[in-house]
Amino acid sequence: MLVTSKELLLDAQKNKYAVGAFNVENMEMVLAVLNAAEETRSPVIMQTTPGTLKFAGADFYFANIRAAAERADVPVVCHLDHGNSFETAVLAFHVGYTSIMIDGSKLSFEENISLTRSVIDVCHAGNVPVEAELGRVGGKEDGLDNTAVINPFTEPDEAREFVERTGCDSLAVAIGTAHGIYKGVPQVNFEVLGKIREVVDIPLVLHGTSGVPDDQVIKCVSMGMSKVNYATDLRIAYTNGVKRYMNEKPDGFDPKKYGAFGIEEVQRYVTGRMQVIGSCGKA
Ligand code: 13P
Repeated sequence: MLVTSKELLLDAQKNKYAVGAFNVENMEMVLAVLNAAEETRSPVIMQTTPGTLKFAGADFYFANIRAAAERADVPVVCHLDHGNSFETAVLAFHVGYTSIMIDGSKLSFEENISLTRSVIDVCHAGNVPVEAELGRVGGKEDGLDNTAVINPFTEPDEAREFVERTGCDSLAVAIGTAHGIYKGVPQVNFEVLGKIREVVDIPLVLHGTSGVPDDQVIKCVSMGMSKVNYATDLRIAYTNGVKRYMNEKPDGFDPKKYGAFGIEEVQRYVTGRMQVIGSCGKA
């Protein structure tokens, strides 16, 4: 069934597990994430960035995710990841997305608050929850290169004030992870996470989780991270599946055949992530 992220994340926060949020780029990836969620009885969030929406339109991705949700007997959320403007956030809301992120983290503190509030005014009127971001998660997010930016961690007192003044439903924080492929082994700053958790009582969101060692992810979840985002590793898994098929059958030309290999790889990856973040059996 299609649900909003509100109750899912509150339940995760209360019971110390996280809901996986997986970026889907095509129908096959939607099917793979659906299969993994049903196999493990996990609640799940399927999300798309504005860059993905540009490729085929929000209506197209929403239709895919809604079809998966209607078929599923686990809760499925359709989430906008890194909404980059008021217009994009409201467009996704009108199309039917059941959870919206507005990312004003590149703006000043006051501008971020005002953009986030404007999106919340629209979404909350339709009972759709909003994720906001404070502090800069580094790396390449949705094709935008942030690697040159020195990432300030989220400042705990600012986080408290931000949540109070915006009324956002969940908060993405910068604690040392980055989007894309890591050059070395990332190191989460658990001290910053602990301080934020002490002063902020809404669900927290971990971005840039592809490539973060499992023990660090598990510790983040035990410290109150309730939504964990994976994108890059799903793209890699899907492409590896397609490549494996083409290597075995260089003359192959049926998209269903190589798509099935892609589905298999993504499903295996997502099932493993669900085990790490503790969502199995929580649906
Ligand atoms: P990765 O691509 O590093 O997994 O990041 C995913 C993410 O945070 C999407 O918002």
